[in-house]
Amino acid sequence: MTSRDQLLTQAAQLLRQRAEIDATDLFMDNLTRPEALRLAAAARSAAPASRADPPSATSASVSAAPEPAGPSAGGGALPLLPTSYTELRDAAMSCTRCRLAEGRTNVVFSDGSESARLMVVGEAPGANEDKTGLPFVGQAGKFLDLLLATVDLSREDSVYICNVLKCRPPGNRNPMPDEIESCSPYLEKQIELVQPEVLLAVGTFAAQLLTGRQKIALGKLRGEVHSYHGVPLVVTYHPAALLRNPKWTRAFWDDLQLLRGIMDSA
Ligand code: URA
Repeated sequence: MTSRDQLLTQAAQLLRQRAEIDATDLFMDNLTRPEALRLAAAARSAAPASRADPPSATSASVSAAPEPAGPSAGGGALPLLPTSYTELRDAAMSCTRCRLAEGRTNVVFSDGSESARLMVVGEAPGANEDKTGLPFVGQAGKFLDLLLATVDLSREDSVYICNVLKCRPPGNRNPMPDEIESCSPYLEKQIELVQPEVLLAVGTFAAQLLTGRQKIALGKLRGEVHSYHGVPLVVTYHPAALLRNPKWTRAFWDDLQLLRGIMDSA
C-alpha cells in the first residue's frame, strides 16, 4: 500500500468515526454554517474579478472583525521585498532580518503547490522542519495532512503551506513580536503572489496575525469566516494542540467543513 493509500484509509477511518458519533452537524460560536457560507459567497462576489490584483486592493469582509492592516502592520523600516515569487523565495533563503537567522539550519519557506486553492498558515518551523527545510513534516504535520485528506485536500495539488516565521525559534519557544514584525512581510507577499481562494490559519499566532485581532483568544476567533483583504479566512486550532487535546479535534473538523463549503461554493 502506498503512503497516500494509507493516508486515505486512515482518513476514511476517521470519517467513519465521525459518522459514528453523529458528527454531521456543525456548531459555530457566532454563525451557522449556512450563514457563514452565504457571507463568504457575498465576499467573493464583492472581490475584484482579476486574481492578479493584490489582496490589499480589496476590502470585502465576511465577519464583523476589523479588516487587518496586513501582517506587516507596524513595520516600515525594512527594505521592500521583491515582487516575483522566485525572487521572494531567494530573498527569504538569505534573510538576516532577525536573530533567528543565526541559529537556523534551513529557512522553511513553503511546501505544496503555488497554484493551490488553499493556503495553510502555521506558526513557525520546529526541529524537523529546520532540518529538512519543509513546513509541517513532524508529527503535527502528518496529522494535518491526514485531516486535510478527509476533505480531499493535499499538498500535491490543492494546498500551499507555510508559516508566520520562516526560521525556527530556539527550543520551539513562541515567536516574539519583533520576529513576527520582521518576517510577516514575506507571508504578506506569499499570499499576494499565490493568490489562494481561501486561507486557513492554524494556531493562535497565525490566527491573530491574519485576522488583525491580536488580543482575542483563538477559541473566540474560530467558527466564522473572516476576511484577509477580501480572501475568505478560516481559523482553527494548531494540529499540535489537537495531539495534546484530542477533544478539540471535533472543532477542527467543523472548521474544515466550513472551509470545504467555501471551496465547494466557489
Ligand atoms: N508547527 C508549525 O506551526 N509549523 C511547522 O512547520 C511545524 C510545526
